[in-house]
Amino acid sequence: MSEIQLTQIRKTFDQTDVIPGLDLTIPEGHFTVLLGPSGCGKSTLLRMIAGLESASAGEIRIGGRLVNDVSPAERGCAMVFQSYALYPHKTVRANMAYPLRMARTPRREIEKRVAETARFLELTDLLDRYPRQLSGGQRQRVAMGRAMIRRPEVLLYDEPLSNLDLELRVRLRLEIAELQREMKRTAVYVTHDQTEAMTLADSIVVLRKGRIEQVGGPDALYNAPANTFVAGFIGTPKMNFFDVQAVAGDAGTSILTLGGSRITLPRALSRPPAQIGIRPEYCALTSTPGEAAVPLHDSRLVIRENLGDRSFGFLSSSLGKVTYLMDEAAQARDGGVQWLSFPAQKVLCFDARGDLIH
Ligand SMILES: Nc1ncnc2c1ncn2[C@@H]1O[C@H](COP(=O)(O)OP(=O)(O)OP(=O)(O)O)[C@@H](O)[C@H]1O
Ligand SMILES: [Mg+2]
Repeated sequence: MSEIQLTQIRKTFDQTDVIPGLDLTIPEGHFTVLLGPSGCGKSTLLRMIAGLESASAGEIRIGGRLVNDVSPAERGCAMVFQSYALYPHKTVRANMAYPLRMARTPRREIEKRVAETARFLELTDLLDRYPRQLSGGQRQRVAMGRAMIRRPEVLLYDEPLSNLDLELRVRLRLEIAELQREMKRTAVYVTHDQTEAMTLADSIVVLRKGRIEQVGGPDALYNAPANTFVAGFIGTPKMNFFDVQAVAGDAGTSILTLGGSRITLPRALSRPPAQIGIRPEYCALTSTPGEAAVPLHDSRLVIRENLGDRSFGFLSSSLGKVTYLMDEAAQARDGGVQWLSFPAQKVLCFDARGDLIH
C-alpha cells in the first residue's frame, strides 16, 4: 500500500505561505505529475512528501501511515534530483550500492541487486567508471538506479531531465515511462515541461502559487481545462483568447459576438461567457468564412514558427494577437479578404472569473 494522502498541507517560509493549505490524494501505482510555473511550490511539495522539508501544518500519509514525524529514510520513498547528486569519488557500482550499504544489506544481496538494476538501466558496462566519465544521460540513469535499488514504495522525481539536451530528454522520458510500466510504483514527478507531463502522466496536478488549479488526465486538461490559467498553460502554441459578448440563442445554441461577427455555438451555456478560447491548431485564415468566422483587419504576420510538419503564424490584428495553423498553399492561392475560421464545437467558453463554462 503506498497511496499518498495530503490533508490541508501548508508550508510557510519566512511568514509567506508558499503552500496555503492543499488537499491531494495520489493513488497507489499511479504516475502523477506536478506541473506548474517556476516558483509555484512543486519542489516544496515533493520535498515534504520525501521528508526533506517539514510541513508547517497538515498531515502527510503514505500507505495510510501518518509520516509527518517519520525520517526520510523510513518513509519508503526514493528521490531523483535534477542535478544527479552522485558521489564523485565513488564508481557507478558504489554509487548504486550506497543506499543498500547504509541499510546494512548483506554483500551478496548488494552485488545481485546492483547487477540486476544495472542490467535494467543498461549500465552494466559502466559499473567501474566514475561519474565524471559519464555523459549527462548516463549520470541520470545512475541516479535513477540508486533511487530504485531499494525498491522503494514511492519514487519521487524532481525535474530529472531538465539538465539534459533535447534528444536525451526524449529518450530518457521513454525509459522512465517503460520503467513505470514494469515497476508500477507510486511515482510523483515534478516538471514545468508540459510535454513531459502529457507523455508520462496518468494524472496531472496543475499548480499555481501553491494551489491546485486542476487535477486530471492529459486529455481532460487539454480538452476541458478548468479555467483560463490551465487552458493557457497546457498546449503549444498557447491557446487564443478573445473577449466576447453573449447574445441570447435559440434552444440548444448560444450566440456570441466577436469582432463584429456573430458566432453560433451548437450548445446551450449555463451562463454567459466573457471570453472564449480556441486552440491555434483549430484556427485557419481563409478567404471565405468557415463554419464560425471573424473578419480580420489590419492583420500583420509577426512571426512564423516552422515545426517541420506544420507551421504556426502569429498575427497582430484587429482582434489582437492571433495564432493559427498556416496553410501556405491555400493562402497563396486565395489571398484577398482574411477570415479567422474555426470549428464552432471547438470553442471553449469562460466566465468573467476565467472559469470554464460547461
Ligand atoms: N528554503 C526556502 N526559504 C525561503 N523560501 C523558499 C525556500 N524554498 C523555496 N522557497 C520559495 O517557495 C516558493 C516555491 O518554491 P519551489 O522550489 O517549491 O518552486 P518550484 O515550483 O519547484 O519552482 P521551479 O520550477 O523553479 O523549481 C518559491 O517562491 C521559493 O522562492
Ligand atoms: Mg523546483
